[in-house]
Amino acid sequence: MAPKSLCVIVQFALLASGKTVRSALPPLGWNSYNTWSCSPSEDKIKQSAEGLIALGLDKVGYNFVTVDCGWPSRDRNSEGRLQWNATLFPSGGKALGDFIHDLGLGFGLYSGAGYLQCGSTDLPASLGFEELDAESFAEWGGDSVKYDNCYATSNTSMVDSSSAESQSPVRFQHMAAALDAVNRDIEYYVCQWGIGNDVGEWASAIGNTWRISNDIYNAWRSIWRITNQVVPYFRHTTRGAFADMDMLIVGLDVLSVEEERFHFGMWAINKSPLIIGAVLDSEKLSQSSLEIMSNKEVIAINQDSLTKQAQLVHRDTEAEWDIWLGELSDSRQILGLANWKNDSQTIQFDLATLGIASARARDVWAAEHVGVVTGVQNISLAGHQLQLWLLSDIISANPLVSKAYHGATDASVTGSARIVTCATGTCLPVGAKVGDLRGDSSVTFSNISSQTAGRTLLGIDFINYDYAFTTAWEFGDNTRNMTISVNGEKAKRWAFPLSGGNWQESGRLLIEVDGFTRGAGNAVTFAGVGNSYAPDVVGFELLE
Ligand SMILES: *[C@@H]1O[C@H](CO)[C@@H](O)[C@H](O)[C@H]1NC(C)=O
Ligand SMILES: *[C@@H]1O[C@H](CO)[C@@H](O)[C@H](O)[C@H]1NC(C)=O
Ligand SMILES: *[C@@H]1O[C@H](CO)[C@@H](O)[C@H](O)[C@H]1NC(C)=O
Ligand SMILES: *[C@@H]1O[C@H](CO)[C@@H](O)[C@H](O)[C@H]1NC(C)=O
Ligand SMILES: *[C@@H]1O[C@H](CO)[C@@H](O)[C@H](O)[C@H]1NC(C)=O
Ligand SMILES: *[C@@H]1O[C@H](CO)[C@@H](O)[C@H](O)[C@H]1NC(C)=O
Repeated sequence: MAPKSLCVIVQFALLASGKTVRSALPPLGWNSYNTWSCSPSEDKIKQSAEGLIALGLDKVGYNFVTVDCGWPSRDRNSEGRLQWNATLFPSGGKALGDFIHDLGLGFGLYSGAGYLQCGSTDLPASLGFEELDAESFAEWGGDSVKYDNCYATSNTSMVDSSSAESQSPVRFQHMAAALDAVNRDIEYYVCQWGIGNDVGEWASAIGNTWRISNDIYNAWRSIWRITNQVVPYFRHTTRGAFADMDMLIVGLDVLSVEEERFHFGMWAINKSPLIIGAVLDSEKLSQSSLEIMSNKEVIAINQDSLTKQAQLVHRDTEAEWDIWLGELSDSRQILGLANWKNDSQTIQFDLATLGIASARARDVWAAEHVGVVTGVQNISLAGHQLQLWLLSDIISANPLVSKAYHGATDASVTGSARIVTCATGTCLPVGAKVGDLRGDSSVTFSNISSQTAGRTLLGIDFINYDYAFTTAWEFGDNTRNMTISVNGEKAKRWAFPLSGGNWQESGRLLIEVDGFTRGAGNAVTFAGVGNSYAPDVVGFELLE
């Protein structure tokens, strides 16, 4: 753990840099959108704020209430200032802020970096009015501003995700500067949707949180989609800067209890803000959903002082499971065993391949101690279960060793596949990659030496920045399929998540591949599936 004095210095430095403040840990709160879409009202917001307290959610850390889209009047006033819609919010913004503050909660505001607000055809957003609107946010007592990206380029097109302007950081940086200039501490929640390149890099510099994806959708499949999109953002998640996986759909009656635990746990270990979207009314919110969102141990993992996002370390796509591992304070780790299959199964893995010789494990959702764990584990998981093991007293295993690295430039390609040279310092560690790999083409690495016969762990460096935006509400899932076959044996398929913030940033996935013979002379072939493209292949190594 960092010494206390260091944390204080870091916090002070952030405060001193301006009025856009950072919460050291991921924000925990409530937002009106998932229940009321763009139709909030004073009554709805007040009841929700009171409901948050009545349900005891403030006691476990949820401490702000945000009015999402739909709150302003159609017209700015004669000075050009935003007005609250007086029919929906008869008391106005300042009085609502006072009401929320009197409950001991923060007041969350919403606007956008475009001409108009999302979900409307005529409500104003802040483009061109940044300084004036930031002043209004401060006058109303706003403690945070969620800043959306609709109507970025015109008054008529609500969602433009492809133009350079819609993807540009400039409009978001403008509001960050405007918030810095006002005399109130306001947290900034960038909601640019993760479009364009290097969003984690520019957004983490200005936002307390930044959305990485299109909206969450009321279905299980959006959990898989957003999870595959958050993978590379671990590089940017840090104290005061958190990748936002979007508001929770826990309590919206669209997931099973097991799936709600999975969703909440996956968001928690990735250090996403945990923003409740459910109606905060004990008559309407199920007890199980309330218990999931109130689980103190899971919230503590999210709020851990080390603020490190978990990483996807192993994936078996055909068996439909993942292993996630994240560092926590006090030399602890969180291990996430994710069963994507809608059926129970037993997964097997060796803790040594995760760098762990032994550890004391606690099953977080079951709130039970597992005991000391070591070596190969066979874990039974229910359908769509995310088992969370909190590991402490960890003894490290000897690291697995690679004898040789096999880079794209050593491969032989067929069909559409081609070897591409990258700019200096990109496509690491090789500086080149195999691109345009489809089902009718392949990449083969020959004469690969293995110390093991049969199954071996491969560390694969790949590039996939084919992010799902326009396809997000259908079946777009941010993955690309690739098959791997050793020595001509049956090919097996893996779904590769996003690897970075552009088409030159590599990611690594560890997978177990069967079919090796001991000694030199193995051939490893990568191929796409059907007409769709595989990820680009930078290279790989055997970890033994
Ligand atoms: C305020 O909201 C109501 C309900 O959505 C709407 O009918 C009305 O036109 C709005 N008024 C203004 C001035 O925007
Ligand atoms: C959008 O509408 C506003 C108000 O009618 C106008 O001032 C502005 O120029 C319009 N912008 C675009 C890009 O059409
Ligand atoms: C999972 O299985 C259950 C029970 O068979 C079914 O009701 C549910 O629709 C399935 N969920 C998904 C996301 O396919
Ligand atoms: C796990 O299962 C395998 C067979 O699938 C068995 O050989 C092994 O002993 C089991 N290990 C443990 C720790 O239960
Ligand atoms: C195969 O690899 C071995 C070392 O692993 C090397 O000695 C040999 O020259 C290689 N053969 C070919 C044909 O590249
Ligand atoms: C990957 O392959 C599976 C199985 O064929 C298929 O269902 C899925 O849609 C594919 N995904 C992509 C992104 O092509």
